[in-house]
Amino acid sequence: MSTNGSVSEWWRSAVIYQVYIRSFADSDGDGLGDINGIRSRLPHLVDLGVDAIWINPWYPSPMADAGYDVSNYRDVEPRFGTLAEAKSLIDEAHALGLRVVLDIVPNHTSDHHPWFVEALAAEQDSAARGRYLFAEGQGEAGEHEPNDWRSAFGGPAWTRVMQSDGTPGQWYLHLFAPEQPDLNWNNTEVRAEFESILRFWFDRGVDGFRIDVAHSLTKQDGFPDVGQRPVVSADGEWRDHPHWDRDDVHDVYRSWRAVADSYSRPRVFVAEAWVEQPHRLARYLRPDELHTAFNFDYLRAPWLAAPLQATIDATLVQHAAVGAPPTWVLSNHDVARHPSRYARVQTSNPPFTLDGLLGHPGDFELGLKRARAAALLTLALPGSAYIYQGEELGLAEVEDLAESVLQDPTWKRSGHTLRGRDGCRVPIPWSGTQSPFGFSPPHASSPPWLPQPVSWGAVSAEVLGTEPDSMLALYRAALLIRRTHPGLGDGPLRWIDMAPGALAFERGQGFVCVVNLSAAPVVVPADTLITLASGPLTVNGDIPPDVALWVQRGSPSASAS
Ligand code: GLC
Repeated sequence: MSTNGSVSEWWRSAVIYQVYIRSFADSDGDGLGDINGIRSRLPHLVDLGVDAIWINPWYPSPMADAGYDVSNYRDVEPRFGTLAEAKSLIDEAHALGLRVVLDIVPNHTSDHHPWFVEALAAEQDSAARGRYLFAEGQGEAGEHEPNDWRSAFGGPAWTRVMQSDGTPGQWYLHLFAPEQPDLNWNNTEVRAEFESILRFWFDRGVDGFRIDVAHSLTKQDGFPDVGQRPVVSADGEWRDHPHWDRDDVHDVYRSWRAVADSYSRPRVFVAEAWVEQPHRLARYLRPDELHTAFNFDYLRAPWLAAPLQATIDATLVQHAAVGAPPTWVLSNHDVARHPSRYARVQTSNPPFTLDGLLGHPGDFELGLKRARAAALLTLALPGSAYIYQGEELGLAEVEDLAESVLQDPTWKRSGHTLRGRDGCRVPIPWSGTQSPFGFSPPHASSPPWLPQPVSWGAVSAEVLGTEPDSMLALYRAALLIRRTHPGLGDGPLRWIDMAPGALAFERGQGFVCVVNLSAAPVVVPADTLITLASGPLTVNGDIPPDVALWVQRGSPSASAS
């Protein structure tokens, strides 16, 4: 964490490492990552220099959507460990100076959750069904879905249930898989339950929550069709949508903020909200709502100077308006890894899923070069940043998993037309020359839950840790500078004029970042000292295309911010 910003507001400057638990480290050899695996690899995260970890859902789950179908919010999935091990992890992380952020899934439960089991067994209009969103079907016998809403994984967002007499009855809403029934956030019991769940984990020392699909909790009464209407009209004005980013969802977060603020040590939230415009995102970050939100506009921006700068500017303006720190993220468990995205020809609205990339040839060396530059850009921007596990190893998307191993519900729900997100979820390589590359212990009983590319022995943490020019070395060096330079983290940014196609900005205390997104070399700013470079300079000492530099004007302590 930068020294800029008080310790009590650590989240304004934090670098948060995303631990995708299934694929991080497997301690017991069942091929699935687990809590003890995370505990064993905490030293890697300390060496890397991050401030916090965000762990994807670890609750008991039938795993219809890799843990985003929770059947008990107050326990831990046995395949991941125990509640006691979870507590040990939290304590050990804290002892090492790492904060721990969990993932809460409030839009839907698992269909195995006791509430949903009860709802299915209950009558229509019962209190048990009132916790979810049941509706009558259309058509004479209610045989058609209640409306045109679609599941994010493909197909209709409604599934019909059987009544106790064996005849078809009502339909229930699931914006994701049928195994993920949507909760009714107009129901006071639902609201009280989630506040209690937050307290359960806060009481165990958890520092915050990432809120899964934070923008979808509330739905419009009467469930009107989405129809053809654009969410954003031609004149750029926001239009009401029946189930995304509705204004009444903010009430939920005001009460959650009150729960977090009732603790003396700060507890924080980060929203996963895929919204259409930066000012809609900022609404989640008003002072009495959430602390931070993922900046998916940045993740989706092309590797092109003008749109990237426009995204950064819009982010800064909209976050400043509500006093919230921006965040920056390049990859996560839902999108194709960014070296593979940057390997493709860049267009104004580039695809960010593997299915969008397939068919577009990639230059993977170029993608990696850009990813190195993007790391320096990301870590120099004001606010907080996220690193998705394996990003520090420069891992590429695994684009050629055999169809027989695909597990993302998207694959099935799309009628085997979309491969989905498994390519960014492959268990990461730690050491050794063959799979499981230290992910699982020797003599494991099962192979990793997704097969690892044979080439990953060359990019394990062990190998990269010894190479001075590796991606891992770059991340470690950048994070070390970030932790100690008073101009980094939260704070102002001032653009500097550069050659067209290059971006340069100054932070406090003489820190300057230059990123060359043009096709020609650019000159290093005068009177500066290079502190870090994402790649070698040209023979003339200029910055080649797709290379970023961190440079220093004067000495950090001597110059004014
Ligand atoms: C979020 C998660 C994603 C999950 C979905 C449904 O987008 O990041 O992995 O499938 O929510 O819970």
